[in-house]
Order: sequence, then C-alpha cells, then structure tokens
Amino acid sequence: MDVWILGSAQAVAVKAADLCTELIQRKPDARLGLATGTTPQALYAELIRRNQRGRLSFSRVETFNLDEYLGIGPEHPRSFHRAMRESLFDLVDIDPSNAHLPAGDCDDPATEAEAYEALIGARGGIDLQILGIGRNGHIGFNEPGSSLGSRTRVKTLSRATLRDNQLGEPDFEAPSMAITMGIATILDAGALLVLATGAAKAPAVAAALEGPLSASCPASAIQLHPRATVLLDPEAAAQLRLTEYYALVDRARRRLAADSS
Ligand code: F6R
Repeated sequence: MDVWILGSAQAVAVKAADLCTELIQRKPDARLGLATGTTPQALYAELIRRNQRGRLSFSRVETFNLDEYLGIGPEHPRSFHRAMRESLFDLVDIDPSNAHLPAGDCDDPATEAEAYEALIGARGGIDLQILGIGRNGHIGFNEPGSSLGSRTRVKTLSRATLRDNQLGEPDFEAPSMAITMGIATILDAGALLVLATGAAKAPAVAAALEGPLSASCPASAIQLHPRATVLLDPEAAAQLRLTEYYALVDRARRRLAADSS
C-alpha cells in the first residue's frame, strides 16, 4: 500500500485528480471505477475544472460506479445515478452511454447484479477504482461481515450506513438495500485509489490499513491489492501507528523524483 498523508482535504482531491489525469492521458479510453458520497466531491470538482480548461477529456473514458440503492430509479433525488450526473457526468464531456451504474429500479435485482458484474468483465475490467471508506469500514456497500470473496450482488444496508447516508427521513420512503460491487469485484481492478478525509474516518482508516484482514472491516481487503494508493488528510490519518514510516517513504519518493528530474 502506498499511503500518502497530505496537508488537507483539498490536497487529497488534487493528488487524486493528478493520478486520474495521468491515467487518462496515458490511456484515453481508461475504465474508471467511481464512488458517490461526500469524499470524492472535491476530486470530481477538480476533474471538472481540468476538463473545462481543456486539460483532460473524458470523451473515450468509460465509468462504472460501485453501487446504487435498490428500489429507486435514475431520476430519484436520492439515486446515485442522479448524484453522479449532478456532480460529474453532466459537467464533463463523457458520453452518457459510457457511464454505468447498476439499475436500482430493475425488476430482478439478482439478475441485474450478475449482469453488472458481467458487463465490467466484458468491457475488460476496471483500470482504476476510486473508493471512499464508510465510518463502519465498508467499501462500496459491502457492510461489515461481507465476504472478502464477494461479487456484485444485493446487500442490506446497516443501521450505521442508513444513519450516515441520512436515509431515515420520515417524509422519504428510504431505500434499505443496494446493489453493490463485491469485495472481490473491487479487488479485480488494476489499481485502487482510496480516499478518506475528516476525523470521523480515523478509526475506520486505522482498522483498514493497520488492523487485521477481516470481513469485520471490509476496507481491510485493500491490504490484499498490490497497487493500492491511499490518500488521507491529517484528520483521517490521526489514528495510524505507522506514520513515521509513511513519512520516510514520502521523503524517499521525493528524493527519487528530484533525482530523476
Ligand atoms: C459510495 C460508496 C460508499 C462510500 C462511503 C463513504 O458509492 O460506495 O462506500 O464511499 O460510504 O461515504 P462518504 O464519502 O460520503 O463519507
């Protein structure tokens, strides 16, 4: 794991955008795995800025989102389809037919999940998967207890996730299940880009990076991936024990970069 503790949440977004930009410039038809939620919003804003300044094109990029709530359609105000359109797709030059999410309003969720898994494989797999981490250690909607070998399927959301995602409003018929890529699906990506910012994520980040590999903390599965980059702000990194080592690696990285320039 390549762990970067950066100066701020904005620095995390810029570094993440640099890594996405490098990939897309090297491979204009890159396949990106995307996440919804609060954490990647600053990254998406940075990607939109670069796209609008002509520095980056999504015209051949294909995207696959991690998950979607079950029982709501793409126009629903709480759907991840809508969130992705509003935070990225409508604001860059991506071909909408290349932006994939599972259909939350499908008739047969198990078949939809299988078809989504098959689609990712048929398109050649994901080059870079962006991940946030839930406060309970979930990635995608793989809640604690999810099999580390799981594939795209229907999952019941935990109470903690329902609370964190504010799905409990009395005037809203809340989704309580989702279709999510499985942990093995996520680990199939060529590289992982894990983002976490803010103090609320510190315990989950410490468990994911330095705790035991365990279904109790699905994010610990990133320890298995040979190409996982983790970008943290100081608040999210606050409970890590190996910070001295991460700083040492960072110094070595900077020395190498200076030598090769
Ligand atoms: C989002 C997803 C989730 C979030 C996680 C963190 O598509 O699958 O795993 O990444 O819940 O959410 P935020 O960033 O809102 O704290």
